[in-house]
Amino acid sequence: QSNSMWGGRFKDGPSAIMQAINASIDFDKRLYAQDIRGSLAHAAMLESVGIISAEDLAAIQQGLAEIKQEIEEERFEFSAELEDIHMNIEARLKSKIGDAGARLHTARSRNDQVATDFKLWCRDSIDRMIVDVASLQSALVDQAENYADAVMPGFTHLQTAQPVTLGHHLMAYFEMLERDKGRLKDCRIRLNENPLGSAALAGTPFPIDREQTSSALGFDRPTRNSLDAVSDRDFALELLSVLSLSAVHLSRLADEIVLWASAQFKFIELSDRFSTGSSIMPQKRNPDAAELVRSKVGRITGQHTTLTLVMKGLPLAYSKDMQEDKVPVFTAVEDYELCIAAMTGMIRDLKANKGEMAKAAALGFSTATDLADWCVRELNMPFRNAHHVTGAIVALAEKQNKELKDLSLEEMQSVEPEIHTGIFDVLSIEASVGSRQAFGGTSPQNVKAAVAYARNHLL
Ligand code: ARG
Repeated sequence: QSNSMWGGRFKDGPSAIMQAINASIDFDKRLYAQDIRGSLAHAAMLESVGIISAEDLAAIQQGLAEIKQEIEEERFEFSAELEDIHMNIEARLKSKIGDAGARLHTARSRNDQVATDFKLWCRDSIDRMIVDVASLQSALVDQAENYADAVMPGFTHLQTAQPVTLGHHLMAYFEMLERDKGRLKDCRIRLNENPLGSAALAGTPFPIDREQTSSALGFDRPTRNSLDAVSDRDFALELLSVLSLSAVHLSRLADEIVLWASAQFKFIELSDRFSTGSSIMPQKRNPDAAELVRSKVGRITGQHTTLTLVMKGLPLAYSKDMQEDKVPVFTAVEDYELCIAAMTGMIRDLKANKGEMAKAAALGFSTATDLADWCVRELNMPFRNAHHVTGAIVALAEKQNKELKDLSLEEMQSVEPEIHTGIFDVLSIEASVGSRQAFGGTSPQNVKAAVAYARNHLL
């Protein structure tokens, strides 16, 4: 028999294949709470403009409250025949309260309904993820404070460059996440216009009050164009692109964790809680969580690509293609939240090995720039000349298999006769990081100030 929701002009019901490709209930049931919120706001508005009676509204409110409970207590029977969450809930409402339930869909279409529900879902997720990101940031800030003066090698090209502090390094990720949080907030601002009342595509002849539903649902204002409102999925694409970029940041941190936890680096130790063993090699302690965070960016970015290609070239207004907007967003949000949680756990538990980091920081002539800077300051040498002199001293040290601070004054003077004992003040890694006090640099004082600023202004 034909469909009870739209079967008026149909003789036959859909084939099983039609139903299989068409139904979205398996995934869009996750919108139930937003769907009910939207329906409650819509019904209250219909009543206040006189489209439905107060009794109808009361019945709708009662019925929807019961349905919400049925779903949350897993007593609700979802039906694929009823396609999606919207029709499942509406059909159940009708079976509970009869005609009043059948009046709910006045001045509304599933097109504005789903756009509204999905925006509410994205907004709820954004609000949650902003909190998640902040908790990862506060883990980073706490560890940055613990390791404000722990010296480690800073790299460029993964070659020893200059010493930095682990605190400074961790605060770099704080900054990335601060931008990510800003992008989430920004996405929320643009998303926050209410599509409800746009109906199928052209708007509605009923005297509805879109300001009322907007404020009831926490939207800043109604959308201005009904065609745009029902066919816009920018908010979903924008959210996916924010998550994809943030996942890139997480993957870079994850990669450093993998590297640092290796026997060759030994900079950090992950806790047992965030490590795994090997079924054959008894000595192993693997950073699987970090590796998985590193890899998830592929899935998340893939979801962004998926939805981009769904939306590409779609004519206005709604097309069923757009039903494929949800799985990418659900999946990406789920992956992202798990990544943030895993990363927060790893960072909170992480122990750094100050001795090994300092040892590594002293290798590779890491204070060569300090030597050159000293020549500029103390000998009034032009920087390019100082660079050349330092290069020659590094070559000498390399030949003798020594670090810079282990060269004698005479050896350095053989390259540049004016060098005096003052040079030894700047060749240690502690002196190197301690001297970088210009704003934004790696000195321990700067790290402490950045930590305090983050705690007072950003968290
Ligand atoms: N399940 C649909 C979706 O997620 C709801 C909108 C259906 N609208 C329609 N005109 N068939 O997109």
